[in-house]
Amino acid sequence: MKLIVDTKIKKDALGDLFGIFFEDLNHAADGGLYAEMVRNRSFEFAPIDNAAYHPLTAWEKIQTNGEARLLIETGNPVSHKNPHYLAMDVLVPGADVGVQNLGYNTGMVFEEGAIYYFTCYAKREQCFKEPLTISLRNKEGIIYTSQEIYLDEDWKKYEVEITSPVTDNSGRLALTISGRGKVYLDFVSLFPKDTYKGRRNGLRKDIATKLEELKPKFMRFPGGCLVHDGSLDPAARDAMYRWKNTIGPLEERPARRSNWGYNQTLGLGYYEYFQFCEDIGAKPIPVLPGGWDPHHRRAVELDRLQPWIDDALDLIEFANGDSNTVWGKKRAELGHEAPFGLEYIAIGNEEVGEEFFIRYVYFHKAIRQKYPNIKIINSGSPFPAGGEYERGWKSAKENGSDLVDEHYYCSPEWFIANHHRYDAFLKEDPNVFLGEYASWGNTYYNALAEATYMIGLERNAHAVALACYAPMLCNADYVNWRPDMIWYNNHQVFGTANYYVQKLFMNHQGDRLLAIKAEKEPEAVLVTETPDSIFGDIILATNDSEAEYSEISVVNDDTGEVKYFDDRRVKKGELAYITRVLWKNYTVKLKAKETEGVKGFNLYFGHQPKGDKPFAN
Ligand code: AHR
Repeated sequence: MKLIVDTKIKKDALGDLFGIFFEDLNHAADGGLYAEMVRNRSFEFAPIDNAAYHPLTAWEKIQTNGEARLLIETGNPVSHKNPHYLAMDVLVPGADVGVQNLGYNTGMVFEEGAIYYFTCYAKREQCFKEPLTISLRNKEGIIYTSQEIYLDEDWKKYEVEITSPVTDNSGRLALTISGRGKVYLDFVSLFPKDTYKGRRNGLRKDIATKLEELKPKFMRFPGGCLVHDGSLDPAARDAMYRWKNTIGPLEERPARRSNWGYNQTLGLGYYEYFQFCEDIGAKPIPVLPGGWDPHHRRAVELDRLQPWIDDALDLIEFANGDSNTVWGKKRAELGHEAPFGLEYIAIGNEEVGEEFFIRYVYFHKAIRQKYPNIKIINSGSPFPAGGEYERGWKSAKENGSDLVDEHYYCSPEWFIANHHRYDAFLKEDPNVFLGEYASWGNTYYNALAEATYMIGLERNAHAVALACYAPMLCNADYVNWRPDMIWYNNHQVFGTANYYVQKLFMNHQGDRLLAIKAEKEPEAVLVTETPDSIFGDIILATNDSEAEYSEISVVNDDTGEVKYFDDRRVKKGELAYITRVLWKNYTVKLKAKETEGVKGFNLYFGHQPKGDKPFAN
């Protein structure tokens, strides 16, 4: 086989082909990329998020030689968007009385000499004059370092920098008081100073760096099923994910139930997503709900759809508008004067149900009319799902969507067998956004299967515009879904074999494929007449041919199984010892490199071909 690369014929541009997909499942945000160390910082955990949750999940009472009551109140919150707060009532002062947070995994990670930003909202009852002590400590209660703050009677935000004198991966943050009385706490937060790019409310440096090193062309976010599961009532505690709830002061972002069985603080919100995309050079691809929850089969009534469509239009303005626009101004006020340069928007995720496709039309028209240059991604149904799968394509073709979002999780064999899946797709049709795919596993074999598939994607850049592996992140102690590309706990992070395949393709994505032609060299296959079975050595001798033989194989006639294969060259007059065998019903084939000069070959059975009569010719 000869490969001929034609540098003059350039195929379709690969564009933004390989990127990443971020969804907050497996504690990908809280307890993952988002560097907040306090779990349940605003006491909003509730059974609606997860049956095992309550407002004091991840908090523990401390009462050494004293007594305290921990009460959850809602009467006078810092923000009505997050109504719960802690009232810590010390009834009997003692050596060490208060509360501590357990963090994620084994606890909080303190590094010797590192600085941590502590913040909280707090107030005290009028008669209580003692300070609040903030301490970093180990899980046995040994205090590493502490600081005191005096509280006002009204809610106020307190900020303290704490340097850890030790390294500990199982640390605790404690808030204690030494006198009798009541203090109120909310939004108790601890961040390392050393976040990715040193940002406040920032990202865990080790995980963010692993993503940056992929060099993705784009990032799809914030989900997945997370986007379309939830109540359609915006005031509900389990309301659907709406991007406007995720920007601005943390207190104003209503913690929510995520469909992945835990509470999302939304501390990692749309502004942070856009900023991270910019930091790592990835184009942002936000996914918005389409007014339809396929999990519970509930749809926004058509005459109430406008606010949902406005979410999409306003998001584009938030990303791209200048400071004279309402939402562009909000972005500038948050600290980013320049536009984020949004090019794509996706409506819906894996939608099954006609209700979605009816609503999609309204979204599509409104976006196209106001922002004709934005590429609109039509949700496809999960594949393979029969007629439902086709429905996404039908909608995309009818509406003139730029892309269709295909998803599939299959066996590695499926990926290998479907290498040519997109060969027949047409350039004129909506392009493919392969928004989620993975083979079932994190083994080298899975990674190789995905690599072969990705070669097929590159080859079909005329039809496939974007592709990203899913899911991307997983905290090893909070697993919703496997396999995943990157695994971590509170202080370690590992890329799987699948990660390194993705990295290879992203780091080396070219602009265009060159035309490659495979030319099969002429060959002749000679087949012997062979006895039904043989036992012993077989030895092959080329006949009077001038040709060079390139492959010798012995094939079982019944099953087609190749019993023996050797690709050594055998020249004229040379002998090739095959092997000692017991074969029944077999055929010996000899492939010649060139057809010319090939006349035949002799196959000897036994040790000494010389002088023996060949049994086949
Ligand atoms: O990637 C995990 C989940 O798989 C996504 O949330 C969803 O879109 C798909 O079913």
